[in-house]
Amino acid sequence: MDWGMQSRMARLIPPETGKAFFLAIDHGYFLGPTRSLERPGETVADLTPIADALFVTRGVLRSAIPAESTPNVILRASGGPSIVGGTLENERLLLSAEEAIRLDAAAVGISVFVGSSYETQTLNNLAMAVNEYERYGIPVMAVTAVGKELEKRDSRYLALASRISAELGARVVKTYYCEDFDKITSTCPVPVVIAGGPKTDDALEVLTFVRDGIDKGAVGVNLGRNIWQHYDPVGMAKALRAVIHDDAAPKDALDLVAAPPNKA
Ligand code: 5RP
Repeated sequence: MDWGMQSRMARLIPPETGKAFFLAIDHGYFLGPTRSLERPGETVADLTPIADALFVTRGVLRSAIPAESTPNVILRASGGPSIVGGTLENERLLLSAEEAIRLDAAAVGISVFVGSSYETQTLNNLAMAVNEYERYGIPVMAVTAVGKELEKRDSRYLALASRISAELGARVVKTYYCEDFDKITSTCPVPVVIAGGPKTDDALEVLTFVRDGIDKGAVGVNLGRNIWQHYDPVGMAKALRAVIHDDAAPKDALDLVAAPPNKA
C-alpha cells in the first residue's frame, strides 16, 4: 500500500484503537431535505469533532461545512435516482478523482445493489471507481444498499454483497447490522462498518447493536439518523464514540445521553 493510501486509511480508522466512527449526512443525495438535515451545517457543527469522518456529498461539503472544521471527508460518489423517481438502484458514478482530490477527500463511497436489475451496472460503478481512485491513493468504501427491499437485510445476503464488494476492490465495506453479523465480518477480507437503518428512539437499542456488531468483528459504524434525528444528538454521538473507541458497555455509554424530554 502506498503512503497516500496508508495515510488516508489511518485518517478513517485511527490506529490508536483500530476502530472508526463515520457520521453519515449524505441522505439528501436522493431524499432531498431530510428531517433534521434541512440545514446540515447547523446539524453537524457540534457532531463533526466527535466523529472520525463525515460521509457527505460534495454540494453540502462546499456549501455548509466550514473547511476550518477540518473533518475527514468521505465523499458520496454515486447517485442519480431520487426517492420520487423511478428506480433507486439505477445509480451511476458521479464524481471524478480530480474533484475528490480538490475536495481533500479521505475516501469516497459508492452504493452497490447486488441482486437487483442494476447489480451489473452498480458493481461496474464500484470497479471503475476503484480503477480511478486507487490511482491517486483514495480508498473506495462500498455501500451495500437494498433500495426499498428492506427484507434483504439478512446475513446471507449481506455477506454475499460485502464479499463481492471487497473482491472488486473496496477498501472498506458499509453494510447493515443484522443477526449473525459475524457471518459477514468473517468472510469479508476488508474492514466492515455498520450502517444505521431506520431511526429508533431507543438509544440503548442503537448502542447495543453497535456493541454487538463490533464484538462480532465490525471496525465501527457509519450512522446518520440515529444520531442527528435523536433528541440529544451530541449525547448520542459521545455515547457511540465511547462504545466504538473506549470499548464501553452500552449501559455505561447510555449515561452520556440525556434522559428523554418527557422523563427529564
Ligand atoms: C444513505 C446512506 C447512509 O450513509 C447510511 O444509510 C447511514 O445512514 P443512516 O444511519 O441514517 O441509515 O448511505 O444512502
